[in-house]
Amino acid sequence: MFTYEVCDDIPKRFSTLVHGYLSPGGLLLLSGGSTIRELLSSLAPSIAPSDPRWKIHLGQVDERVVPFDNAGSNWRTISEGLTDTPIAPLPMVVTTTPVQHELLTRSPNTEPGTDPALGAFVASLARRYEERLLELASWDVVHLGLGLDGHTASIFPSSPAEFDDHHLVARNWDPSGLNHFERVSLTMMALNRFNQRIVVATGSEKAEIVHRAITGEGLPIHRLDPNNTIFLLDKTSAHLLN
Ligand code: 6PG
Repeated sequence: MFTYEVCDDIPKRFSTLVHGYLSPGGLLLLSGGSTIRELLSSLAPSIAPSDPRWKIHLGQVDERVVPFDNAGSNWRTISEGLTDTPIAPLPMVVTTTPVQHELLTRSPNTEPGTDPALGAFVASLARRYEERLLELASWDVVHLGLGLDGHTASIFPSSPAEFDDHHLVARNWDPSGLNHFERVSLTMMALNRFNQRIVVATGSEKAEIVHRAITGEGLPIHRLDPNNTIFLLDKTSAHLLN
């Protein structure tokens, strides 16, 4: 059973929690999707105090493997919301060769899980990101969303990496096709390594999946350690809970 709060001002509550959990030079990872956009404006002042010791490492929980200028890029969403914030950025998708650039360019129009060369590139991105994360000592706090199918990060029901307990970061995709693109994602094992997890789910369309996440079982979100995990909900997403 997860702990949850029903808040009137989620961006403010989220930012206060993040600031409280962060340590100087610590790690904060943000998810993608649309909810994060509502959070970023109030987050920036909380993660970049004037003291340079506080330059935190800010990275991603997951990424759609698309070029930065693609509207689906999570790093584009995060970067646009945190302009001028003095952080140590940790983007997931980086190309270092012309071949990788070509693979990335064609990824949006490639059915996930079908192209061996693209798959090898995505797997290499996951390995690289895992190496970067392992260099960081303090995994302070991670922001997570909740998809309508109960996914979090890019760990989808019945997806290849759903039960991956051998990697911290993996290649994944959604076999249902609901969630597009090849993905790089932290695994559930990695998410449970963080000192604190904050799941943010808002809006009436999330009410049923929130109710199932909080009271039910069998979804990817249910593999989060309930200890040190808190759900931030608004009145509409929480309205089916007692
Ligand atoms: C992604 C996300 C994903 C997201 C949830 C919720 O890349 O899609 O990281 O896990 O957080 O799908 O998305 P919304 O906030 O848009 O509902």
